[in-house]
Amino acid sequence: MDLATELARRAALVETGLARFVPEASVRPDRLHSAMRYSLEAGGKRLRPVLVLAAAELFSAPPEDALAAAAAVECLHTYSLIHDDLPCLDNDDLRRGRPTAHRAFDEATALLAGDALLTHAFVILTTAYADRPALAHALTRELADAAGSRRLIGGQMEDVLAEKRADVSPADLDFIHLNKTAAMIEASLVMGGLIGGASAPALDSLRAAGRATGLAFQIVDDILDATADTATLGKTAGKDARAGKATYVRIHGLEASRRIAREHTAAALSSIDRLPGDRAFLLALIASMAARAS
Ligand code: IPE
Ligand code: IPE
Ligand code: MG
Ligand code: MG
Ligand code: MG
Repeated sequence: MDLATELARRAALVETGLARFVPEASVRPDRLHSAMRYSLEAGGKRLRPVLVLAAAELFSAPPEDALAAAAAVECLHTYSLIHDDLPCLDNDDLRRGRPTAHRAFDEATALLAGDALLTHAFVILTTAYADRPALAHALTRELADAAGSRRLIGGQMEDVLAEKRADVSPADLDFIHLNKTAAMIEASLVMGGLIGGASAPALDSLRAAGRATGLAFQIVDDILDATADTATLGKTAGKDARAGKATYVRIHGLEASRRIAREHTAAALSSIDRLPGDRAFLLALIASMAARAS
């Protein structure tokens, strides 16, 4: 199995899903739809939607069947990036190698494009799976839960609060990372499993794998912010230290951060190994997420 080829094939499928399920830029108001597509089409890695497809494949669900859920997850993730970059949060100028949405358009448009992508994720789910109401319900609930005040948004809240705190504990930091980042990675794998009709124990294994993969993913994001360059990242390097962010690098140091990321990745891989089906792609993908350079 060649990971790069297999990943590119699924990422290309995600692009077709986004093209199909998101309104065209010309739809009125075209400024809003242009901003949504500007951020969506800026060249993200598409890891979360590919995780949806890969988890569904384990249970022999056709990729076509998981495509709408994959597109919904990427819409939601892209909203979270647009808002994360706003001046009132991380105040970033660069995202996915391009000016951030509020720089390319303006703050009001970026705010609304984020709102619209968040909302549209649920339009996609409830429309595409309407013929299977139990599945539509389970997917909607999973994504809404991951995106909500206890998870993604809760993590973002504590991330902002932690900037002003000198006493952030390792447990506080794990709350931030498990919620602002791992929640969506967990939901991606679980949604793929739901589409494939996974059993309750299999969903538990997917959730555990997502949690560990997501924690490792944000730890590596913290490490890359401190060690990589802006051109490679496509976002401004070195910003976390300047903003006084609570990161793994700040709290644990680089070396321990790298070790802990490896430990979580190993735990994720062993959770995946408890699942049925052909796990080769998913295992290689999760390993590569921890070894990434951007
Ligand atoms: C960035 O996620 C935000 C984090 C949770 C670290 P990605 O690194 O997956 O960003 P894109 O989607 O490839 O732009
Ligand atoms: C990302 O955290 C969390 C969300 C976008 C929900 P960061 O603030 O570290 O992400 P980057 O580094 O800006 O991509
Ligand atoms: Mg942030
Ligand atoms: Mg940020
Ligand atoms: Mg970061």
